[in-house]
Amino acid sequence: MRWIVWMAASAAVMVSACSKPDAKADATAPAGPRVVAANDIEAGRYLVLVGGCNDCHTEGFPQSGGSIPEAQRLTGRSVGYQGPWGVSYASNLRLLAANMTEDGWVEIMKTKKLLPPMPSHNLAKVSDPDLRAMYRYIHSLGAAGQPEPENLPPGVAPKTAVENMVPVPPAA
Ligand code: HEC
Repeated sequence: MRWIVWMAASAAVMVSACSKPDAKADATAPAGPRVVAANDIEAGRYLVLVGGCNDCHTEGFPQSGGSIPEAQRLTGRSVGYQGPWGVSYASNLRLLAANMTEDGWVEIMKTKKLLPPMPSHNLAKVSDPDLRAMYRYIHSLGAAGQPEPENLPPGVAPKTAVENMVPVPPAA
């Protein structure tokens, strides 16, 4: 039984390899796990939502219970995240996607060393088709908002509100 499954899987890989030579440019190519949706924009919309991107990259999103209109989402956050790394600001992904290629986006998500609390340790593992779907969705929303404030090194006093990411011990 197992070998039949294996044969079927190999055949599927061979067929898809033949019929989709340009798999990189196709967010629907079956390369690794991927979300199945009506199209890549819908896949990206779903991934961005359940991937929690708005919680950091959309001002006030968690506090609103997720009710910020889509047109205003992913424009970055002006409240910084303060920790031993200094202060990091969640980027305006609308401006980022508008000004970069899809390949550039995949490269950043997989390799760029980003400051906490950006969960790169998880997101670098997202499959290529899903990363491309996220880019296509965010790109489809168009440029909006202002650039996020500059990150600050440790010891520099922020000019914005910050969230303290250092654990506070319980009162004695
Ligand atoms: C817990 C908060 C948090 C979550 C959740 C989060 N991010 Fe981030 N993200 C950040 C912060 C903070 C930065 C800025 C890091 C830095 O400047 O080094 C960042 C940076 C990025 C960058 C790099 C931008 C640049 O200018 O190079 C990308 C791309 C990105 N996030 C995409 C995503 C996507 C897509 C998701 C959801 C799947 C997501 N992030 C979820 C906090 C978060």
